[in-house]
Amino acid sequence: MKGIILAGGSGTRLYPCTISVSKQLLPIYDKPLIYYPLSMLMLAKIRDILIISTPNDVGNYEKLLKDGSRLGLHIQYAVQETPRGLADAFIIGEKFIGDDSVCLVLGDNVFYGANMSRILERAMASIEGGGASIFGCFMKNPQEFGVVEFDEQRRVISIEEKPKKPKSNYAVPGLYFYDNQVVNIAKNVQPSARGELEISSVNEAYLNLGQLKVTLMGRGVTWFDTGSPKGMHKASGFVKTIQEMQGFYISCIEEIAWRKHFIDDEQLRRCGEELKKTEYGKYLLSLPKNEEEPT
Ligand code: G1P
Repeated sequence: MKGIILAGGSGTRLYPCTISVSKQLLPIYDKPLIYYPLSMLMLAKIRDILIISTPNDVGNYEKLLKDGSRLGLHIQYAVQETPRGLADAFIIGEKFIGDDSVCLVLGDNVFYGANMSRILERAMASIEGGGASIFGCFMKNPQEFGVVEFDEQRRVISIEEKPKKPKSNYAVPGLYFYDNQVVNIAKNVQPSARGELEISSVNEAYLNLGQLKVTLMGRGVTWFDTGSPKGMHKASGFVKTIQEMQGFYISCIEEIAWRKHFIDDEQLRRCGEELKKTEYGKYLLSLPKNEEEPT
Protein backbone atom coordinates (compact mmCIF):
# COMPACT_ATOMS: atom_id res chain seq x y z
CA MET A 1 0.00 0.00 0.00
CA LYS A 2 1.16 3.53 -0.85
CA GLY A 3 0.67 6.62 1.32
CA ILE A 4 -0.15 10.19 0.33
CA ILE A 5 0.05 13.23 2.58
CA LEU A 6 -1.76 16.27 1.28
CA ALA A 7 -0.07 19.34 2.68
CA GLY A 8 -1.39 22.03 0.38
CA GLY A 9 -3.96 24.75 0.90
CA SER A 10 -3.48 28.43 1.53
CA GLY A 11 -4.02 28.27 5.30
CA THR A 12 -5.97 31.54 5.28
CA ARG A 13 -7.68 30.68 8.57
CA LEU A 14 -4.27 30.88 10.22
CA TYR A 15 -3.16 34.21 8.75
CA PRO A 16 -0.82 35.99 9.50
CA CYS A 17 1.09 32.84 10.63
CA THR A 18 0.75 31.18 7.24
CA ILE A 19 1.39 34.12 4.91
CA SER A 20 4.98 32.99 4.40
CA VAL A 21 5.03 29.50 5.93
CA SER A 22 2.98 26.46 5.00
CA LYS A 23 0.53 25.51 7.75
CA GLN A 24 1.72 21.90 8.03
CA LEU A 25 5.24 23.11 8.87
CA LEU A 26 4.06 25.11 11.89
CA PRO A 27 4.75 23.46 15.24
CA ILE A 28 2.32 21.43 17.26
CA TYR A 29 4.19 21.82 20.54
CA ASP A 30 7.65 20.43 19.74
CA LYS A 31 7.49 19.13 16.19
CA PRO A 32 6.18 20.21 12.78
CA LEU A 33 2.50 19.49 12.22
CA ILE A 34 3.24 17.16 9.28
CA TYR A 35 5.04 14.72 11.64
CA TYR A 36 1.67 13.75 13.11
CA PRO A 37 -0.04 12.52 9.90
CA LEU A 38 3.28 11.06 8.69
CA SER A 39 3.43 9.01 11.87
CA MET A 40 0.01 7.50 11.05
CA LEU A 41 1.34 6.15 7.75
CA MET A 42 4.40 4.80 9.54
CA LEU A 43 2.28 3.10 12.21
CA ALA A 44 0.44 1.41 9.34
CA LYS A 45 3.91 0.31 8.09
CA ILE A 46 3.45 2.27 4.87
CA ARG A 47 6.93 3.26 3.69
CA ASP A 48 6.34 4.49 0.15
CA ILE A 49 5.05 8.03 0.59
CA LEU A 50 4.13 10.97 -1.65
CA ILE A 51 3.89 14.45 -0.16
CA ILE A 52 1.81 16.88 -2.17
CA SER A 53 2.09 20.60 -1.55
CA THR A 54 1.92 23.98 -3.26
CA PRO A 55 4.58 25.18 -5.75
CA ASN A 56 5.81 27.63 -3.09
CA ASP A 57 6.03 25.19 -0.21
CA VAL A 58 7.03 21.81 -1.61
CA GLY A 59 10.75 22.66 -1.37
CA ASN A 60 10.45 23.25 2.37
CA TYR A 61 8.96 19.79 2.93
CA GLU A 62 11.82 18.37 0.93
CA LYS A 63 14.27 20.26 3.11
CA LEU A 64 12.65 18.81 6.22
CA LEU A 65 12.13 15.18 5.25
CA LYS A 66 14.46 14.70 2.25
CA ASP A 67 14.12 11.30 0.56
CA GLY A 68 13.00 9.70 3.82
CA SER A 69 15.97 7.29 3.98
CA ARG A 70 16.96 8.68 7.40
CA LEU A 71 13.71 7.08 8.62
CA GLY A 72 13.85 3.99 6.42
CA LEU A 73 11.18 5.49 4.17
CA HIS A 74 10.99 6.35 0.51
CA ILE A 75 9.48 9.84 0.20
CA GLN A 76 8.65 11.58 -3.07
CA TYR A 77 7.16 15.01 -3.67
CA ALA A 78 4.57 16.45 -6.04
CA VAL A 79 3.03 19.85 -6.63
CA GLN A 80 -0.63 20.81 -6.60
CA GLU A 81 -0.68 23.93 -8.78
CA THR A 82 -4.01 25.20 -7.45
CA PRO A 83 -6.10 24.03 -4.48
CA ARG A 84 -8.54 21.90 -6.49
CA GLY A 85 -9.70 19.80 -3.55
CA LEU A 86 -8.64 16.70 -1.67
CA ALA A 87 -9.69 14.19 -4.33
CA ASP A 88 -7.17 15.83 -6.67
CA ALA A 89 -4.47 13.99 -4.66
CA PHE A 90 -5.33 10.77 -6.50
CA ILE A 91 -5.13 12.44 -9.91
CA ILE A 92 -1.77 14.06 -9.08
CA GLY A 93 -0.61 10.79 -7.51
CA GLU A 94 -1.86 8.47 -10.27
CA LYS A 95 1.61 7.36 -11.41
CA PHE A 96 2.87 7.05 -7.86
CA ILE A 97 -0.11 4.87 -6.89
CA GLY A 98 0.32 2.63 -9.93
CA ASP A 99 -1.60 -0.62 -9.37
CA ASP A 100 -1.55 -0.32 -5.59
CA SER A 101 -4.07 0.60 -2.94
CA VAL A 102 -3.52 3.89 -1.13
CA CYS A 103 -3.94 5.62 2.20
CA LEU A 104 -4.54 9.38 2.12
CA VAL A 105 -3.89 11.39 5.25
CA LEU A 106 -4.42 15.12 5.51
CA GLY A 107 -1.33 17.04 6.54
CA ASP A 108 -3.15 18.94 9.29
CA ASN A 109 -4.87 16.05 11.09
CA VAL A 110 -3.52 14.96 14.46
CA PHE A 111 -4.51 11.60 15.97
CA TYR A 112 -3.59 10.08 19.28
CA GLY A 113 -4.94 6.98 20.90
CA ALA A 114 -4.55 3.52 22.25
CA ASN A 115 -3.93 0.74 19.73
CA MET A 116 -3.52 3.11 16.80
CA SER A 117 -1.39 0.56 14.90
CA ARG A 118 -4.10 -2.06 15.30
CA ILE A 119 -6.86 0.33 14.18
CA LEU A 120 -4.87 1.16 11.04
CA GLU A 121 -3.95 -2.46 10.30
CA ARG A 122 -7.61 -3.46 10.53
CA ALA A 123 -8.64 -0.71 8.13
CA MET A 124 -5.95 -1.83 5.69
CA ALA A 125 -6.98 -5.47 5.96
CA SER A 126 -10.64 -4.56 5.44
CA ILE A 127 -9.95 -3.34 1.89
CA GLU A 128 -7.76 -6.24 0.80
CA GLY A 129 -10.69 -7.54 -1.24
CA GLY A 130 -11.46 -4.03 -2.56
CA GLY A 131 -13.41 -0.96 -1.44
CA ALA A 132 -12.78 1.93 0.89
CA SER A 133 -12.32 2.20 4.62
CA ILE A 134 -12.83 5.45 6.51
CA PHE A 135 -13.49 6.49 10.10
CA GLY A 136 -16.12 8.32 12.09
CA CYS A 137 -15.43 10.45 15.18
CA PHE A 138 -18.15 11.82 17.44
CA MET A 139 -17.86 15.62 17.41
CA LYS A 140 -19.80 18.49 18.95
CA ASN A 141 -19.40 20.51 15.73
CA PRO A 142 -19.89 17.97 12.90
CA GLN A 143 -21.05 20.67 10.46
CA GLU A 144 -17.40 21.72 9.98
CA PHE A 145 -16.48 18.34 8.48
CA GLY A 146 -17.58 15.50 6.24
CA VAL A 147 -20.48 13.86 8.10
CA VAL A 148 -21.57 10.23 7.97
CA GLU A 149 -25.12 9.10 8.74
CA PHE A 150 -26.08 5.59 9.91
CA ASP A 151 -29.34 3.64 10.16
CA GLU A 152 -30.35 1.68 13.28
CA GLN A 153 -28.15 -1.26 12.21
CA ARG A 154 -25.16 1.09 11.99
CA ARG A 155 -25.16 0.81 8.19
CA VAL A 156 -23.97 3.96 6.42
CA ILE A 157 -26.75 5.75 4.60
CA SER A 158 -25.22 9.06 3.62
CA ILE A 159 -22.04 11.13 3.51
CA GLU A 160 -22.27 14.89 3.29
CA GLU A 161 -19.57 17.55 3.13
CA LYS A 162 -20.01 20.32 5.71
CA PRO A 163 -23.82 20.05 5.85
CA LYS A 164 -25.70 23.00 7.37
CA LYS A 165 -27.90 20.51 9.21
CA PRO A 166 -25.74 17.48 9.98
CA LYS A 167 -27.64 14.18 10.09
CA SER A 168 -25.36 12.81 12.82
CA ASN A 169 -22.52 13.84 15.13
CA TYR A 170 -20.05 11.59 13.34
CA ALA A 171 -17.40 13.56 11.46
CA VAL A 172 -15.09 11.85 8.97
CA PRO A 173 -11.44 12.54 9.86
CA GLY A 174 -8.75 13.05 7.23
CA LEU A 175 -7.50 9.46 7.10
CA TYR A 176 -8.79 7.30 4.26
CA PHE A 177 -7.92 3.87 2.83
CA TYR A 178 -8.85 3.09 -0.78
CA ASP A 179 -8.38 0.35 -3.31
CA ASN A 180 -7.02 1.17 -6.76
CA GLN A 181 -10.44 2.23 -8.11
CA VAL A 182 -9.97 5.55 -6.32
CA VAL A 183 -7.97 7.03 -9.19
CA ASN A 184 -10.84 6.58 -11.65
CA ILE A 185 -13.43 7.58 -9.10
CA ALA A 186 -11.53 10.81 -8.40
CA LYS A 187 -11.28 11.57 -12.12
CA ASN A 188 -15.07 11.38 -12.40
CA VAL A 189 -15.86 13.57 -9.39
CA GLN A 190 -17.67 16.78 -10.27
CA PRO A 191 -16.53 19.99 -8.51
CA SER A 192 -18.76 21.00 -5.60
CA ALA A 193 -20.49 24.36 -5.14
CA ARG A 194 -17.23 25.73 -3.67
CA GLY A 195 -15.42 24.51 -6.81
CA GLU A 196 -13.48 21.66 -5.21
CA LEU A 197 -13.14 17.92 -5.87
CA GLU A 198 -14.45 16.84 -2.48
CA ILE A 199 -13.24 13.73 -0.71
CA SER A 200 -16.82 13.24 0.49
CA SER A 201 -17.84 12.76 -3.17
CA VAL A 202 -15.23 9.97 -3.46
CA ASN A 203 -16.61 8.37 -0.31
CA GLU A 204 -20.16 8.73 -1.61
CA ALA A 205 -19.16 6.95 -4.83
CA TYR A 206 -17.85 4.00 -2.77
CA LEU A 207 -21.05 4.10 -0.71
CA ASN A 208 -23.13 3.88 -3.91
CA LEU A 209 -21.04 0.88 -5.01
CA GLY A 210 -21.78 -0.76 -1.63
CA GLN A 211 -18.04 -0.73 -0.89
CA LEU A 212 -17.64 1.78 1.92
CA LYS A 213 -16.67 0.66 5.40
CA VAL A 214 -16.80 3.10 8.29
CA THR A 215 -15.15 2.34 11.64
CA LEU A 216 -16.05 4.49 14.62
CA MET A 217 -12.89 5.56 16.42
CA GLY A 218 -14.53 5.72 19.85
CA ARG A 219 -13.47 7.61 22.95
CA GLY A 220 -10.06 5.94 23.03
CA VAL A 221 -8.87 8.05 20.11
CA THR A 222 -8.44 11.81 20.13
CA TRP A 223 -8.55 13.62 16.83
CA PHE A 224 -7.65 17.26 16.26
CA ASP A 225 -8.36 19.26 13.15
CA THR A 226 -5.82 22.06 13.46
CA GLY A 227 -7.47 24.53 11.11
CA SER A 228 -7.50 27.52 13.47
CA PRO A 229 -5.17 29.12 16.06
CA LYS A 230 -7.39 27.65 18.80
CA GLY A 231 -7.20 24.18 17.23
CA MET A 232 -3.40 24.38 17.03
CA HIS A 233 -3.15 25.60 20.60
CA LYS A 234 -5.42 22.82 21.88
CA ALA A 235 -3.44 20.14 20.06
CA SER A 236 -0.11 21.59 21.31
CA GLY A 237 -1.33 21.65 24.90
CA PHE A 238 -2.56 18.08 24.61
CA VAL A 239 0.76 16.81 23.21
CA LYS A 240 2.76 18.68 25.87
CA THR A 241 0.61 17.32 28.70
CA ILE A 242 0.70 13.69 27.57
CA GLN A 243 4.43 13.76 26.80
CA GLU A 244 5.30 15.31 30.16
CA MET A 245 3.11 12.92 32.12
CA GLN A 246 4.01 9.68 30.34
CA GLY A 247 7.54 10.45 29.25
CA PHE A 248 6.75 9.00 25.82
CA TYR A 249 6.58 11.29 22.81
CA ILE A 250 3.57 11.51 20.51
CA SER A 251 4.20 11.09 16.77
CA CYS A 252 7.97 11.01 17.14
CA ILE A 253 8.79 9.76 13.64
CA GLU A 254 12.34 8.59 14.47
CA GLU A 255 11.05 6.55 17.42
CA ILE A 256 8.34 4.94 15.29
CA ALA A 257 10.87 4.14 12.54
CA TRP A 258 13.05 2.46 15.18
CA ARG A 259 10.24 0.58 16.95
CA LYS A 260 8.92 -0.68 13.60
CA HIS A 261 12.46 -1.78 12.63
CA PHE A 262 12.70 0.56 9.63
CA ILE A 263 15.98 1.79 11.19
CA ASP A 264 18.42 0.19 13.65
CA ASP A 265 19.95 1.46 16.92
CA GLU A 266 22.86 3.11 15.11
CA GLN A 267 20.59 5.03 12.72
CA LEU A 268 18.45 6.15 15.65
CA ARG A 269 21.58 7.31 17.47
CA ARG A 270 22.59 9.40 14.46
CA CYS A 271 19.13 11.01 14.36
CA GLY A 272 19.49 11.80 18.06
CA GLU A 273 22.98 13.28 17.60
CA GLU A 274 21.69 15.68 14.91
CA LEU A 275 19.15 17.05 17.38
CA LYS A 276 21.03 16.57 20.63
CA LYS A 277 20.76 20.20 21.77
CA THR A 278 17.01 19.70 22.19
CA GLU A 279 14.82 17.67 24.52
CA TYR A 280 13.64 15.90 21.36
CA GLY A 281 17.17 14.79 20.48
CA LYS A 282 17.90 13.74 24.05
CA TYR A 283 14.73 11.68 24.03
CA LEU A 284 15.86 9.87 20.86
CA LEU A 285 19.25 9.13 22.40
CA SER A 286 17.63 7.76 25.54
CA LEU A 287 15.28 5.35 23.77
CA PRO A 288 17.45 2.20 23.46
CA LYS A 289 18.24 2.47 27.19
CA ASN A 290 14.60 2.82 28.19
CA GLU A 291 12.28 0.13 29.36
CA GLU A 292 9.83 -1.45 26.92
CA GLU A 293 7.10 0.81 25.60
CA PRO A 294 3.94 0.31 27.68
CA THR A 295 1.11 -1.29 25.72
C1 G1P B 1 -11.56 18.21 4.91
C2 G1P B 1 -12.63 17.29 4.30
C3 G1P B 1 -13.66 16.89 5.35
C4 G1P B 1 -12.96 16.27 6.55
C5 G1P B 1 -11.85 17.21 7.08
C6 G1P B 1 -11.02 16.52 8.13
O1 G1P B 1 -12.12 19.44 5.23
O2 G1P B 1 -13.23 17.96 3.21
O3 G1P B 1 -14.57 15.98 4.80
O4 G1P B 1 -13.90 15.96 7.56
O5 G1P B 1 -10.97 17.60 6.04
O6 G1P B 1 -10.02 17.37 8.63
P1 G1P B 1 -11.22 20.80 5.32
O7 G1P B 1 -10.59 20.77 6.67
O8 G1P B 1 -10.21 20.70 4.22
O9 G1P B 1 -12.18 21.91 5.16
